[in-house]
Amino acid sequence: MIGPFTHTALPMRVVFGPGSLAALPDEVDRLGLQRVLVLCSPEQQATGEQVAAALGARAAGVLAEARMHVPVEVAHRARELAAELGADGCVAVGGGSAIGLGKAIALEHGLPVVAVPTTYAGSEMTPVWGLTEGGVKRTGRDLRVLPASVLYDPELTLTLPAQLSATSGVNAIAHAVEGLYAPDATPIVSLMAEEGARALAAALPRVVADGTDLDARGEAQYGAWLCGAVLGATTMSLHHKLCHALGGTLDLPHAPTHTVVLPHALAYNQPAAPDAVAALSRALGGVPDPARELWELAGRLGAPRSLAELGMREEEVPRIAEPAVAAPYANPRPVTREGVERLLHAAWAGELPEALRR
Ligand SMILES: [Fe+2]
Repeated sequence: MIGPFTHTALPMRVVFGPGSLAALPDEVDRLGLQRVLVLCSPEQQATGEQVAAALGARAAGVLAEARMHVPVEVAHRARELAAELGADGCVAVGGGSAIGLGKAIALEHGLPVVAVPTTYAGSEMTPVWGLTEGGVKRTGRDLRVLPASVLYDPELTLTLPAQLSATSGVNAIAHAVEGLYAPDATPIVSLMAEEGARALAAALPRVVADGTDLDARGEAQYGAWLCGAVLGATTMSLHHKLCHALGGTLDLPHAPTHTVVLPHALAYNQPAAPDAVAALSRALGGVPDPARELWELAGRLGAPRSLAELGMREEEVPRIAEPAVAAPYANPRPVTREGVERLLHAAWAGELPEALRR
């Protein structure tokens, strides 16, 4: 039976393809913007300058200070600079940090954001913002922060290192996985999730084998777009709850943490999410067990497979399990302390997900 469901389509324009950076001036003109502030991280200053040069007189300046989790100090400085320069919009070039900074400006000043993603994080497809003050991250949803236009040029991802590409890509697959069993999933979102997971799982081994393979880069970015759109449309579950606890409490690196935990969280949920299992089985090439396949994929990509190698100590398992059990996100399978601790022990050790061992 189809439905009942409620589907909200987000207003979003996407320009996609190798060389599409050349269309950026037209995108900015189309939005009626005349003086945009270009945002990027310090590591991507050269790309930011390249984008500003392409924009010519439409670029009011470049702020290369975007940082992870959008510290409020950086957001304040960016808002002040935007006001000082009389900027009427922002072009955010990079991953979640740069796009998050553009959202922080939009949240306060309402300036439209044009996003030019260079990773597979997917933040450009969501109305979710985040700001960190004194180590505490606040997040919210607000349509004003949704980019007005997103330009995906796979050429800009050619320099993303193999390991970052692998973990950023699996982090994106996690949005497809949790979108498939989300309480607010719809048939349209599920189509995007299945196709997004398929494209990324097919492309990532090729990207890791040859980072300059533009065709593989394009397929990976296409998958990242779809997975980002799933994230923008649905509520995330146990996997994200655990990764937030691991990131927030132990400061483990974002994308590698998601890469390690995903097969375990999926294995935990598989018995309660048969439709998601069927969709992921198709997406991953007809495999019987998607959780196992994601675990194997991480191995083939040379990505981390244990929380131990990311710096976690095994004694910390109960502390991480605690919030996931005390205040669980909506989840297809009931979240029990015993189950979550077993899951975390297996993820810590880098073993095949516990639920799949015979
Ligand atoms: Fe995520």
